[in-house]
Amino acid sequence: MIIVAPSILSANFACLGEDIGRVEAAGAEWLHIDVMDGHFVPNITVGPQIVADLRPISRLFFDVHLMIENPDQMVEAFIEAGAEMVTVHVEACRHLNRTLNLIKSRGAKAGVSLNPATPVSMIEGVLDEIDLALIMSVNPGFGGQAFIPGAVRKVQQIRLIQIESGRTFHIQVDGGINPQTGREVVQAGADVLVAGSYVFKSGDIDEAIKNLHALG
Ligand code: DX5
Ligand code: ZN
Repeated sequence: MIIVAPSILSANFACLGEDIGRVEAAGAEWLHIDVMDGHFVPNITVGPQIVADLRPISRLFFDVHLMIENPDQMVEAFIEAGAEMVTVHVEACRHLNRTLNLIKSRGAKAGVSLNPATPVSMIEGVLDEIDLALIMSVNPGFGGQAFIPGAVRKVQQIRLIQIESGRTFHIQVDGGINPQTGREVVQAGADVLVAGSYVFKSGDIDEAIKNLHALG
């Protein structure tokens, strides 16, 4: 079973609620909310207020991807606002174990993300703490970028580690996902596909989400 997580980064922010209603009606399971601070990545997006305002209008699972420095400072605000999964970048966390435990202690699931240049070995020390491993298949900051093929091998690596260790965390891939790249990462072991431009810009949201589910 593939979980489809449309990224609101490619939605129309002038009618965000309606766009979210469309992906929900089309059968998406999760909503991927990209949070950027202009420091960890060269772009700025949304804060906890947007999450809080969206919470009552949607039953989707809120998957918040923090692309920010000092995530510890903001974790609680996003969870109070309605985040059910909070994913932090290993590159932004000096005390990753502490940050993941902070997320879980506030009642959310904890995810950890790797930039394209960061090896999978960076998360071997926190396998006990995570509910999700996110392999970035673009350099974070913008929607609509081309898929970086090296992500496929990293998904294979994390899947192998997952099987060998008997763990059950999700393996998510984010960036440049469409039915072609999605097929490659699903075959490599991913079970959660984030898709921004493919879902919101391809012209037919129902068809796009159906095509991604069909990869499972
Ligand atoms: C990139 C974000 C992604 C982005 C994906 O920094 O983390 O979630 O929205 O967009 P697409 O699917 O267009 O690559
Ligand atoms: Zn993302």
